[in-house]
Amino acid sequence: MKVFSANIQDLRTLYVSNLKKALDMEQKITKTLPELIEKATDAELAKAFEIHLEETDGHVKKIENLLRRNMGESKTETCKVINGLTTEASETIKDVTDLSIRDIALIGAAQQVEHHEIAVYGTLRRWAEILGLAEDAVVLEAIEAEEANADELLSEIAERVNYQAAA
Ligand SMILES: [Fe+2]
Repeated sequence: MKVFSANIQDLRTLYVSNLKKALDMEQKITKTLPELIEKATDAELAKAFEIHLEETDGHVKKIENLLRRNMGESKTETCKVINGLTTEASETIKDVTDLSIRDIALIGAAQQVEHHEIAVYGTLRRWAEILGLAEDAVVLEAIEAEEANADELLSEIAERVNYQAAA
């Protein structure tokens, strides 16, 4: 898609607005992950959530830095999607009483969040490139890679956990 100079200001506004939503999303994920760590019965799964909590703390700091660089301060805008995904996750966890199924439910909920994050950062990275914000694009690509890694690790764990639950 070709973006003309008159549109750049609008795209910049859209970019900053979505960075603010990404910050809200990451902050909310740092509050949800401890619940997933606590509820996970599989040790490897709990460890994966712990590692991703550390990474997510890093994402919060990186997005705050991007916002400071772009507008001098870091503010949030409500990410309605993460509200929906975390509400859905909490309800699912509550409903599932069978422990062998609970890990599967946790993985499913976490992967929905990861897939949303991958989409968010893929879009933000592309917009940063169009806007000529090369340094931003590098940071966003690094975050996207960590989300993709976390998602892949969850898929690997799911292979084993799903099988155990079915057995
Ligand atoms: Fe993240």
